[in-house]
Amino acid sequence: MTCTIRKISDPQQLFSIAAQEFFKRTEEAVKRTGHMTVALAGGSTPKGLYGLLASEPYRSMIDWSKVHVYWGDERHVPPDHQDSNYRMAHESLLSHVPAIPSQIHRMQGEFPNASDAADAYEDVLRKEFTPSPGEAPVFDLILLGMGPDGHTASLFPETEVVHESARWVAAPWVEKFQTHRVTLTPVVLNQARHVMFLVSGKDKANALQVVIEGPSQPDQYPSQVINPLSGELLWLVDEQAGSLLRKTTFQTQ
Ligand code: 6PG
Repeated sequence: MTCTIRKISDPQQLFSIAAQEFFKRTEEAVKRTGHMTVALAGGSTPKGLYGLLASEPYRSMIDWSKVHVYWGDERHVPPDHQDSNYRMAHESLLSHVPAIPSQIHRMQGEFPNASDAADAYEDVLRKEFTPSPGEAPVFDLILLGMGPDGHTASLFPETEVVHESARWVAAPWVEKFQTHRVTLTPVVLNQARHVMFLVSGKDKANALQVVIEGPSQPDQYPSQVINPLSGELLWLVDEQAGSLLRKTTFQTQ
């Protein structure tokens, strides 16, 4: 696994570098297998990337008919809810590009029981990726964000899902929000060929410094659990988020 951290001064440049990376990984995957599988991140930071991908030149550069869209996590809400990660991606990206509806696989946050949504998503992954027995789905690209508490996807501090080693999708209870979430687990996240974090804003600086340069403490800083087994990890962080990092751009093996 190689890990690259790039601190980028200008937030808009952060998103254009991320868009270039998205295009590059899509081209690679389509050349290799004829299609590309990506798990989108939720929250608000990725909107800057999704807006770029939805506009020229990326809208035309990317062969959206070859792109299969998934999510890294989802809130326990219907797809039209203001908090829905599906709704955010649909509004900022998917409604603006010629993606094929049957290749858009949202997590069904509307299910009354979140664990039923997790089970259903595991069935989708099994059907779409057809992994060998005992193998987990391998995404070409997984986009992730990081919260000020060091969470990523819906892997929150002090939750068991941070150490999940069997399930591909889980429905953890998140005490701080008094709600369940649906999330890919580290079993799938760490199988990806490429994982790209997008982190922006000074409220992330403390957590980012600990996650990147601090001692291993994934229960307190779950983003530390993201270590692709054989894939590449790329952190794209803006000046504010990376302000406490001792080094700017570096690569570790
Ligand atoms: C979610 C995301 C979550 C997000 C972080 C960072 O469902 O909210 O999956 O993990 O990536 O909370 O969010 P921002 O990038 O908007 O700060």
